[in-house]
Amino acid sequence: MQLPESSSAAPLATIADIARFDGQTVTLRGWLYNLRESGKLLFPIFRDGSGLIQGVAHKSSVSAEVFEALKGLTQESSVEVTGRVRADQRAVGGFELDVVKIAILQRVPESDPYPISPKEHGVDFLMEHRHLWVRSTRQAAILRIRAEIMRAAQEYFDSNGFTRTDPPILTPAACEGTSTLFPVDYFGDEAYLTQSGQLYIEATALALGKVYSFGPTFRAEKSKTRRHLTEFWMIEPEVAFCDLDGLMELAENFIAHIVQSVLTRRAADLAAIGRDAEKLRAIQAPFPRLSYDEAAAMLQQAHKDGHLEQPFTYGDDFGSPDETWLSSQFDRPVMVHRYPAAVKAFYMQPDAANPSLALCVDVLAPEGYGEIIGGSQRVDSYELLKSRIEAHNLPIEAFQWYLDLRRFGSVPHSGFGMGIERVVAWLCGLDHVRETIPFARTLNRIFP
Ligand code: 4AD
Ligand code: MG
Repeated sequence: MQLPESSSAAPLATIADIARFDGQTVTLRGWLYNLRESGKLLFPIFRDGSGLIQGVAHKSSVSAEVFEALKGLTQESSVEVTGRVRADQRAVGGFELDVVKIAILQRVPESDPYPISPKEHGVDFLMEHRHLWVRSTRQAAILRIRAEIMRAAQEYFDSNGFTRTDPPILTPAACEGTSTLFPVDYFGDEAYLTQSGQLYIEATALALGKVYSFGPTFRAEKSKTRRHLTEFWMIEPEVAFCDLDGLMELAENFIAHIVQSVLTRRAADLAAIGRDAEKLRAIQAPFPRLSYDEAAAMLQQAHKDGHLEQPFTYGDDFGSPDETWLSSQFDRPVMVHRYPAAVKAFYMQPDAANPSLALCVDVLAPEGYGEIIGGSQRVDSYELLKSRIEAHNLPIEAFQWYLDLRRFGSVPHSGFGMGIERVVAWLCGLDHVRETIPFARTLNRIFP
C-alpha cells in the first residue's frame, strides 16, 4: 500500500497540534472514527492517534467525488484528508475541518465491519479485541498517561544522580518467593523469568552508588484479582548508604514528581477519561507514615466498628480489603513501615529496636488503590543473610554471588520497587489493571 501522493500543497498536520493551523488548509492522516450524515451534510469524525476532530462536508461545497467517497464511509477506514481548519468553540478540541479532499487508503468493507461499534461491549469481548480496543479515545488516553508515568519516573532518577542498570530477565533463582516463579528451560537447566531486578541492582548499587532498573517482571499469580498481572513493569531504585528513613523520603518525592508531571502534561487525557484531577493535586510530600502496629490497630478498630468484614489478626500480612480500607483513610499515599519479618522477604534488615520487625515499607495509594510500592533496607551482615537464605530453603549455591556483596565492602543499602500498572490504575481511576497496559497478561488470558 502506498501513501497517496499529496498533490495538495497543504502541510501535514496532527490533530494535537491543530491550533497552530487555524484558518489554514492542512492534510491529516488517520482513520474515520465516526460518521454522522444528515441529508446533504456529512460530519465525519477523524482520529489520527493524537486526537479527534470533526470534519464538515456539505454537498454543495465539496466536489461530487469527495462527497461520494465520504458518504457511507465505514468506521476505521484509513484516510488522508485535506481541509481548512476553523476554530469552533462548540467542537471537541475547539476546531473543525472543512473537508476539501479525501483519499481512502483502505476502506473497511460493509460486509465485514469494524467489530467495536460505539455501543457498549462486555469486558471479555473488548479484551478479546484488545488489538482494536486500544484505538478507542479512552484507551488511547490511558496509554498516553501510562507513557507519561514511565517518562516522569525515569526522569526523576536520571536527574537525581541515579544510573540505570538493567538486570537480566532470565535468572537462576527466586527473589520474591518460589510460589510465583515462571520456569524456562535453559539448555537443559531450569531458569526463571525475573520476579524483580533487586538482587542484581544491589550489586550495581555497590558499584555505582545510586542505580535503578526498569523493565518487565513476571509472576505466576494464580489468583484472579483486579491488582495482579502475570507480566508487569517495575521500576526499582537501589541506594548504597541509605536507610529506611532515607528510602521513605525518596519514595514520597518520587511519587509526588510523577503525579505532578501527569497533572501538567496529560491534563487533557485525564479530563477525557473523567478523572477527578483535584484528588491528584493533593499528592504532595510528605506522606503520612504508619507503623505496621498502628495500621494493625486501625484495622482491628475498623472491624469492631463494622467497616471491615474480616477481623484482622496481628502478625498477618494485610489482605486486599485491609489495604483498600487503610488507603482510603488518607488523601495521599500512606507509608506503612516495619511489618513482622515473618510475612516479608528473606533479604530485609531486622529492626534493631525489635528484631521481629523488618525495616521495610509498603506505600498504599489513596482512594482504596492499595500497594503501589514495596521496599526495604537490606540485610547487610553476611552471617544473617546466609542463615535467612537457608531458613527460606533457597538454594544457597544460586545465592553465592549475592552473599559476596556482604563479604566485600558491605554497607547499609535500601531500595524499592514500584509497579507501573498499579500507578496507572490509581492515577486514571480504573477499577482493574487489565486496562493499564497495552496487552495484559493474566491467569486466564494470553491472547491477543
Ligand atoms: O512488593 P514487591 O513484591 O517487591 C519487590 O519485588 C521488591 N524486590 C522490590 C524492591 O525492593 N526492589 O513488588 C513491588 C511492586 C508492588 O508494590 C506492586 O506495585 C508491583 O510491584 N507488583 C505487581 N503489579 C502487578 N501485578 C503483580 N502481580 C504485582 N506484584 C507486584
Ligand atoms: Mg509487596
